[in-house]
Amino acid sequence: MTQKKLDVVYKREFINFPKRIGPAAVREFYNQMGIDYDNDMEIMTYIAPDVAAQKAASLVSDKQKENFKLLDLGAGTGLAGAALRRAGFLGNISALDGSAGMLKVAMEKGIYSDSTEHILTSSNPLPYSDHSFDMVVSVGAFGKSMMEPDCLQEVLRVLKPHSYMIITVRMYSEVQDYKVRFYDELDRLEAAGLMKICSSEKFPYYKWDEISDDFKVKLADQYGEVLELQKLYIN
Ligand SMILES: C[S@@+](CC[C@H](N)C(=O)[O-])C[C@H]1O[C@@H](n2cnc3c(N)ncnc32)[C@H](O)[C@@H]1O
Repeated sequence: MTQKKLDVVYKREFINFPKRIGPAAVREFYNQMGIDYDNDMEIMTYIAPDVAAQKAASLVSDKQKENFKLLDLGAGTGLAGAALRRAGFLGNISALDGSAGMLKVAMEKGIYSDSTEHILTSSNPLPYSDHSFDMVVSVGAFGKSMMEPDCLQEVLRVLKPHSYMIITVRMYSEVQDYKVRFYDELDRLEAAGLMKICSSEKFPYYKWDEISDDFKVKLADQYGEVLELQKLYIN
C-alpha cells in the first residue's frame, strides 16, 4: 500500500469528520461514506469489529452462540455483524444505525435479521422493548458527535438481566471532554448497581504509523479500548 493511499483515507475518514455538530451531521457524513467505508477501514487495518466479536464469543457457550439474539448498535456497513458471524454467532443479529447509506451496504451483505434506521439520543430512545437482547455489541459508535454517554442506560434497558454489552471506544486527544463524560457515566451506572465493568482492554484500533507527517497524527490516538459491561439486575 502506498503512503498516499493511507493519507487519502485518513483525510476522508478523520479530517473531514464533523467535529462539533450533533448526530444529524454525522448521519450526513456517513450517508456519503457508505461506499468507501469498508475499503477505507481495510487500508487502515481497522480491527475493532473482530476484537469486539472475539470478546463477545469468549463470554458465551457454543450452544448460546447458536441462538443468542444480538443487537449491533451503530452497525454501519456491517463490519461488526460480519465479525460476529465469523466468531460463530448464528442466531438473530439486529442492526441499528442512524445512517441509511451505511445500513444499505450492511443489509446487502445478508448478515442481519433486520435493520432499523434510528438516531439514538437521550430524547430518542431505542425502538425495542425492555430485555429484548441477549447481548449488545457497539463498535465505534459511542464517541464525540455520535452516541452520547447519557444513552448507555437506555442500552441497558433493552438487554436481558445479567447480559453483556461489548463496546469499543477510541478516546483520541481531541475528545477528552467526551472521555470524562463517558467514564463518569460508567461510574454512575456502576455505583447505582445497574451494571458492572467486567473488563477494559487497550488495543490498536487502526494502524497509522505510515501516515504522512503533514497530518501531525498522534500515534497514541490509534489505540482504543474494548469494554465488557454486564447488566446487573432488572432495570
Ligand atoms: C465509526 S462508524 C462504525 C460502524 C461500525 N460499527 C463499524 O465498526 O464499522 C459509526 C456508526 O455509528 C452511527 N451512529 C453514530 N451516532 C449515532 C447515533 N446517535 N444513533 C445511531 N447511529 C449512530 C453512524 O451512522 C455510523 O454508521
